[in-house]
Amino acid sequence: MKAIRNIKDVNVRGKYILLREDFNVQVVNGVIVDTFRIDTALKTIKRLSKAGARVVICSHLGRPNGKRVPELSLRIVAEYLNIPFVDDCLRKDFLPTMKNGDVVLLENLRFYIGEEKNEKSFAKKLASGFDVYVNDAFAVSHRKAASIVAITKYLPSYAGDLLASEVENLSALLKSPKRPLIVYVGGAKIDTKINVLKKLVGIADKIVIGGAMGTTFNFALGLPVGNSLCEFDKTKVALKILKLAYKNNCEILLPIDKGVGKVFDKNTTRTNRDAGQIADDDVIMDDGKKTTARNIDLLKNAKTIIWNGTFGLAEWGKKWGYSSFEFAKHLAHLSKAKKLKAIVGGGDTVAALDACGVRKDISYVSTGGGAFLEFIEGKTLPGLIPLINK
Ligand code: 3PG
Repeated sequence: MKAIRNIKDVNVRGKYILLREDFNVQVVNGVIVDTFRIDTALKTIKRLSKAGARVVICSHLGRPNGKRVPELSLRIVAEYLNIPFVDDCLRKDFLPTMKNGDVVLLENLRFYIGEEKNEKSFAKKLASGFDVYVNDAFAVSHRKAASIVAITKYLPSYAGDLLASEVENLSALLKSPKRPLIVYVGGAKIDTKINVLKKLVGIADKIVIGGAMGTTFNFALGLPVGNSLCEFDKTKVALKILKLAYKNNCEILLPIDKGVGKVFDKNTTRTNRDAGQIADDDVIMDDGKKTTARNIDLLKNAKTIIWNGTFGLAEWGKKWGYSSFEFAKHLAHLSKAKKLKAIVGGGDTVAALDACGVRKDISYVSTGGGAFLEFIEGKTLPGLIPLINK
């Protein structure tokens, strides 16, 4: 990918900067569950403020569909950052009161439908009063939104530190990964990962498919899946990916056993069952112990690992997060010892790292979920196109 224009090369003293961040964080009972995305953006925010810019941050939170939804207010993020909050993203009256170095946060952009529709009129209003636009929101740069794409028609546009570092790190990984490169993919839905899998079979030496997606692949191969979450209508897609992998000499590894219960409930008793022995009334909620041991064993000879998607219901804690947590711990250990390079992306997957306290030991953790996958898939994200040097 060609170089993108970076705001660090611009004199920003006294300039009004509209800084797009992705503060789309999970909030439960008035508490931010994970501040990773916010904390990672601090580098850009602090540098711009230190350089004397007047920094106005904007972001989306959730999917309010153009309505004001109080639970999706960004006020909670302003409180976390300890900066002033502006209760409407199109308000301009506070701008003349800002001094060099000041930082404020605007209310949720998606309270206006023009944001998600990439409306020019909305982007124009948002841009008014600013000198420069900075996109630091890698995690939402796969969306054609007004604050990501249309805005660049109205302001000189640059990348922030976080966005630049995501692009740099992920590009380097795709360009010349050290081999063997093994990709671990979990999560529930094949649809969200089909394209990335199609791309990855041409790049990876092995792909390990786990979680509910692994169940769907096993079903496609004729294995029993009991009463479990499985995309029964996706067998053709699964078989297509297996054929493509075969053609590309990429080995696909599926779950060989599963952690099952009798009801879809985190308190139900767990049993490990071989993939061929799943009973009609079994509910699969995790990959099994043999699968986990195999997945960990594969790490021994690998040089690069990409991991996206947990292998079970890790959000339910240790019992059903067994396969994800054990894998996370071993991956982190090898990554810390510099035995391999580990790249992890996706909200649930990063949450699994956090549940084991090992995020800091992973070589590179992306703030992107969908954007991470689309980037790896080889797509040029719509938000990056306007920032590329011509
Ligand atoms: C994300 O969390 O992946 C981004 O913020 C994009 O959010 P969206 O899927 O609601 O567009």
